[in-house]
Amino acid sequence: MKILITAGPTREPLDPVRYLTNRSSGKMGYALAHAAAHDGHQVLLISGPTDLDVPDGVDFIPVETAAEMFEAVQDSLSRMDAAIFAAAVADYRPATAAEQKIKKSGETLTLELVRNPDILGSCRSHFGFTGTLVGFAAETEHLAAHARTKLEKKGCDLVVANDVSQPGIGFDSDRNAVLLVFPDRIESLPEDDKHQLAHRIIQEIEKIPRD
Ligand code: PMT
Repeated sequence: MKILITAGPTREPLDPVRYLTNRSSGKMGYALAHAAAHDGHQVLLISGPTDLDVPDGVDFIPVETAAEMFEAVQDSLSRMDAAIFAAAVADYRPATAAEQKIKKSGETLTLELVRNPDILGSCRSHFGFTGTLVGFAAETEHLAAHARTKLEKKGCDLVVANDVSQPGIGFDSDRNAVLLVFPDRIESLPEDDKHQLAHRIIQEIEKIPRD
């Protein structure tokens, strides 16, 4: 298969020296890219800034902002058989990015944020993607229920749900534990190294029937 994978955080600029971001290291997405390439798939990794090396044999598009990730996905998706969205995309960005460094003034500073495009949520509705669609869900409560809502709302074939309130798994760690939420069943993959979990997730994606 040709597989697109998003990974890492996005950075949403406030001014030339500051940005809003999150704790994603990219490890989960890069492990998926490595596992998919190892299984013989042709992989395109679209990633926000990380410290990781791009796995051998993987095509790579580096991005910074959610808007750049949206464009890169939009440009590539029609050539793909499957797409996996492991990136932690900022849901909001500063309404304006100041051209000059913001100076200290009052005791408080209020930022206006505006919604970023929902890249995963655009795949079926805006991009007309008919391939295998896999989302992630980063939740702190009601893991299965929230993941099922995302699965249905965004037209996914699978949502990989991780409980990001648990210490030692999820964001910026080498390990994870996930629920695989399919339209007709849920499977639990207990805590393991992200590379081991990535191989299991890719195996499950390979089994999803394609048109
Ligand atoms: O990078 P690591 O440190 O290894 O951590 C891994 C991880 C915790 C980041 C990863 O396993 C994970 O859960 N990624 C998704 C994080 C997230 O943003 O979840 P969400 O529930 O907010 O988003 C749901 C889905 O929509 C995700 O597939 C996300 O990529 C996608 N999304 C979200 C917002 C947006 N504007 N566009 C999107 O495509």
